[in-house]
Amino acid sequence: MTKNNSFLYLNIAGDTSDCCGDSCCADELNVEITHDQLDSMTASIQHYYGIFATSALDRVVDSKHIPSTDKFYTQDQREVLPAEVAGASAGCGNPLGVANAALGEIVMDLGSGGGVDCFIAAKEVGDEGFVIGIDMTPHMLELARKNAEKLGTENVVFKLGHIESIPQPDDTVDLIISNCVIALSQRKDRVFSEIFRILKPGGRFVISDMVTSDAIPSNVQKSPNEWVACVGGAAVMSEYIEMIGDIGFSDIEILKEEQSRPYADDWQSTLINLTLRAYKPHD
Ligand SMILES: C[S@@+](CC[C@H](N)C(=O)[O-])C[C@H]1O[C@@H](n2cnc3c(N)ncnc32)[C@H](O)[C@@H]1O
Repeated sequence: MTKNNSFLYLNIAGDTSDCCGDSCCADELNVEITHDQLDSMTASIQHYYGIFATSALDRVVDSKHIPSTDKFYTQDQREVLPAEVAGASAGCGNPLGVANAALGEIVMDLGSGGGVDCFIAAKEVGDEGFVIGIDMTPHMLELARKNAEKLGTENVVFKLGHIESIPQPDDTVDLIISNCVIALSQRKDRVFSEIFRILKPGGRFVISDMVTSDAIPSNVQKSPNEWVACVGGAAVMSEYIEMIGDIGFSDIEILKEEQSRPYADDWQSTLINLTLRAYKPHD
């Protein structure tokens, strides 16, 4: 264990990985995470995605690496992205493929990473529209800004920020997208409240995210390595949808639901790649 690898240093009290059976596991899954742990987890995520950003170019030349654009995106979408930009993608779906972004719309991408979805959105909304990418990892922002320069995309801006406290005024965004990010948040309720706050009345969000069909083991939930992989923090799908409804969204619709690891025969078989849309009602 090295001191540099911050996510190996999380000290989460009361590791109860020796579970005594199904019912006891279910109780343990409501893990209380303290503020210290929350900060460490955030630091781990930034550390991991910082490395991811700085090695994006290496992945392009690594023949074993298949960018998530190859797995999830259409041919037309891929044509917007040169290989070195696509190499930055780390999503688990294709929210824009089903979001129907329209000319002139204001789009925001939560956890924009290297900017892949922002560039596709920027093309769809055209010069009259605008795209804002939000990310909390400075190296990711650097990468996204470099990519924007490479592509010559002018109707996009990348801002440093946390999706639990979005730097954007109320009622100002037509469409919010997010690709494999909300699973990384320890305050998903805050994220959805913020989405509600900044969407225009009648606006919509379309997100792809990791969720589960059943509660995952508590040791997985507490593992920083599983968190950074969007697994440890994946919510149970029914609770996730209930949370969105409780916040006040309407017309919640599951657009795609796919087993994330079809080969798995253990808890990993509960992992789902979900794409979902919901609307902020008109006043
Ligand atoms: C799995 S990557 C996905 C990136 C991008 N959406 C894509 O599809 O390529 C997760 C991104 O979310 C960012 N992120 C994670 N938690 C965040 C938070 N609470 N606030 C803002 N950004 C966050 C990370 O820095 C990282 O860039």
